[in-house]
Amino acid sequence: MGFGWGIVGFGWVAQDHMAPALAATGHRLVAVTDPDPGARGRAAALGARTYADADALAADPAVEAIYVATPNHLHAEAVAAAARAGKPVLCEKPMAATLAAAEEMSRQVRRAGILYGTAFDQRHHPAHRALREAVMAGRIGRPTAIRILYACWVGPDWAETGRENWRIDPGKAGGGALIDLAPHGLDLVDFLVGEPLVEIRALLQQRVHGYPADDGGVLIGRTDSGILASLHVAYNCPERLPRRRLEIQGAAGLLTAIDTMGQDSGGRVDLQDADGRVASLNIRDAEISPFRAQAERFAEAVRGGDRSAFSLERDLHTMRLLDLAYRDAARSPNVSAAVAAGP
Ligand SMILES: NC(=O)c1ccc[n+]([C@@H]2O[C@H](COP(=O)([O-])OP(=O)(O)OC[C@H]3O[C@@H](n4cnc5c(N)ncnc54)[C@H](O)[C@@H]3O)[C@@H](O)[C@H]2O)c1
Repeated sequence: MGFGWGIVGFGWVAQDHMAPALAATGHRLVAVTDPDPGARGRAAALGARTYADADALAADPAVEAIYVATPNHLHAEAVAAAARAGKPVLCEKPMAATLAAAEEMSRQVRRAGILYGTAFDQRHHPAHRALREAVMAGRIGRPTAIRILYACWVGPDWAETGRENWRIDPGKAGGGALIDLAPHGLDLVDFLVGEPLVEIRALLQQRVHGYPADDGGVLIGRTDSGILASLHVAYNCPERLPRRRLEIQGAAGLLTAIDTMGQDSGGRVDLQDADGRVASLNIRDAEISPFRAQAERFAEAVRGGDRSAFSLERDLHTMRLLDLAYRDAARSPNVSAAVAAGP
């Protein structure tokens, strides 16, 4: 019998990415809770039992782990239900809408002694694993900098599911483009060079859309050993423009990943040496989706295997960086004034 999952919040990412990944892995979608009748219907059509709330779902003996994919401000209560039931939980990024909620979540996870992981699927992307191996093997020499562009278009009426656009409501999302998109980049810095940022600065904009959340941001940071990072995240970049690019610069070369950041496998990675010669990097298991690899590794960790891909303390550090970034940006002059002034 395949590993049994319960899902809290069966919206876009759960339906389009997690459910297909579970099917590909041979895991079972056992149970779903979601207040939306359409979502419950689609879950039932896949053979899942539907429950009124996360506590009832967590009590189902066939649920071996819980995946939380609600809007951000509801992550904490779903994780608390998993903790009460003593079930392992894989929770979507960001951990919570606020640092305080993430800290409270962490206390409950520690008290219950359950396995917790934030669903940073991009550390399971085959191209990103190849990048990490290349860095660790010294193929670019001593790493000096990481540059990330991760952007998309989220207009005021955007919603993949045709429903509520909670992403542009800071009370629910915890912010805007920065809190939605930067967690992936911050986690990738740690994954790719083996050390997290320890210092961070931020500038935000509300430049194109009229909503109350940031629609763009630039972060700069530094790791303990001195690697510099810059991240540009945005909700105001047309989807057809180049918008997913990751570079790792070293003293002896440059790694460039194009169109690898996202929910699917694919994209391209090039290695350029100090003489300028460019070669594509060989990517093992290039077709395996990050969500599938993530589900497999989480189940393996639940069953006593390698847990290194999941770390509550690491994820809490990422939440602290996000909180610092928003507090740093808040010291800048009011960005709304720039929006009112126009280009
Ligand atoms: N890892 C990734 O690449 C990735 C991609 C997209 C979204 N996400 C994250 O996944 C989460 C969900 O995003 P989405 O785009 O799927 O949102 P969505 O709005 O499409 O889906 C959210 C679902 O949660 C349901 N919901 C609301 N209240 C609930 C409750 N109390 N209990 C159970 N379900 C409830 C909604 O009805 C909806 O079906 C967010 O935290 C987001 O940041 C991650």
